[in-house]
Amino acid sequence: MTPRSIGHLASEMAPLVKVGGLGDVVSALAHEQVRRGHRVLVVLPRYRDLALPPGWRVHEFGTTRVPWGVGHEPVRFQIAEDPATDLRVLTIEHTGDRRFFQRAGVYDDPVSREGYPDNAERFLFFSRAAVEALKGFGEQFDVLHCHDQQTAWVPCLLRTHQVDEPVFDRTATVFTIHNLGYQGVVDPWVLGLAGFSREVFYPQSPFEYHDRVNFMKVGILFADLISTVSPTYALEIQSSGEYGFGLEGVLRRRTGDVRGILNGIDDTVWDPATDRYLDAHYDRDDLDGKRACRNALALACGFPLDPDLPIIGMVSRLVEQKGLDLIERAEHALCDLPARFVVLGVGQPRYMQFLRRLADTRPLQWHFETAHDEALAHRIEAGSDLFLMPSRYEPCGLNQLYSLRYGTVPVVRATGGLADTVREFDPVTREGNGFVFHGYSHEEMLMALRRALAVHAEPELWRELQRRGMARDSSWRAAAQHYDRLYDEAIDRVAQGRVPTLESVRDSF
Ligand code: ADP
Ligand code: GLC
Repeated sequence: MTPRSIGHLASEMAPLVKVGGLGDVVSALAHEQVRRGHRVLVVLPRYRDLALPPGWRVHEFGTTRVPWGVGHEPVRFQIAEDPATDLRVLTIEHTGDRRFFQRAGVYDDPVSREGYPDNAERFLFFSRAAVEALKGFGEQFDVLHCHDQQTAWVPCLLRTHQVDEPVFDRTATVFTIHNLGYQGVVDPWVLGLAGFSREVFYPQSPFEYHDRVNFMKVGILFADLISTVSPTYALEIQSSGEYGFGLEGVLRRRTGDVRGILNGIDDTVWDPATDRYLDAHYDRDDLDGKRACRNALALACGFPLDPDLPIIGMVSRLVEQKGLDLIERAEHALCDLPARFVVLGVGQPRYMQFLRRLADTRPLQWHFETAHDEALAHRIEAGSDLFLMPSRYEPCGLNQLYSLRYGTVPVVRATGGLADTVREFDPVTREGNGFVFHGYSHEEMLMALRRALAVHAEPELWRELQRRGMARDSSWRAAAQHYDRLYDEAIDRVAQGRVPTLESVRDSF
């Protein structure tokens, strides 16, 4: 392995800022890369509520003015360092009048639960400012690894405005799609802010998408290589509009450059033997502590301590993607199951009201907490018997991996990373690690839950199933090796001059 200089550009990194799995992934991948001997910098927006862990050192890195339309916007850079590792974080603070990041929440206004109307400007600004910061950073990066549509302009900026900038001479770009359901589609005025004239905007141009501009499309077309977070999702997003959300054709154009690399988990943070949020600890050889975690969870939810009635957990953003309409449709049948439900999540008002009503009317069977609560997420993983993820689509999914590690049996729909990590348990051969349904239907979900409950009623079989899941190695070690190879490939291409240019991208249409 050749040590590389890697810059990640992302809108989340746990524990500094986290909305969903992206934050976990950026953090764990960056840490693993540092352990492997790479030099790693993560570039983040300086959100108002960015939570720097105690002990981190922060120093000023300067200010500058970022080209923005016909003018400029001021920006301030800081560098934060984790003294325990060599990981560095560069933060981008917009100091102009509109203070793009000085507000509550990350993407959404926490009061209205709607996305901020200027998100396109906020994250385009972040991308342009990040490029300016990296130009003056004093280091030649081998790879800029951009995550999701918020950073999708960076590969394009490098291959257009910055094409003669020596500091990026040998810099490769990798664009990782964590979720194609969020693309960043806005009206063409945004091109001016990105530094392009309206001439680049015409039907079928790289910058045009149904008469608008699509950030994700720009990232897909200008990155040297593209990856997504599981092999199955890499195929799904090219196969149909259902998963490609309109970009399936664009992805197919680059099919030879699209890779699927399954996420890992941070197994130091998510370890039932040491988890700091748990009342008791356990491992594969001694599951006693799990019973104590289960009792503590039941108590916290106001449930009776009935060991025969399994607890089914869910920790999820409450959005369409996560299959909550299946829960709505199955409401009565779920209430008839011999099981209790604990749900932790924030999201669309429709789902929050539905779950609140269930919890209010059936307090001994349903418990619902609506907050972002890291500790409770860990307690639900440890204290539940089963974990339900009926996702409509799931690029990777981390909770099924946490569940497997915690001896909590996942019940999932076979899509994306769920299909790659959970296999139906066969009580005869004793192979498999969970319960899987295929069609997006509440009947199929209920059948999978019933199969799970039938095995749960056989304690010896259940323990074997739990232990099988706990044996899975979901650490980042394997995934980080795949990224090393992806970077090598992208760097080779740059060395050979095989990179996308405005002309090559334009001519490919
Ligand atoms: P996604 O990124 O699509 O939301 P993932 O399964 O990849 O899905 O990751 C979700 C992450 O967010 C997990 O670490 C999960 O525990 C966490 N999470 C989701 N909702 C909450 C919440 N309300 N409180 C605490 N953690 C949450
Ligand atoms: C996205 C996906 C999720 C994935 C996460 C991290 O938010 O919805 O499936 O695990 O990114 O890659």
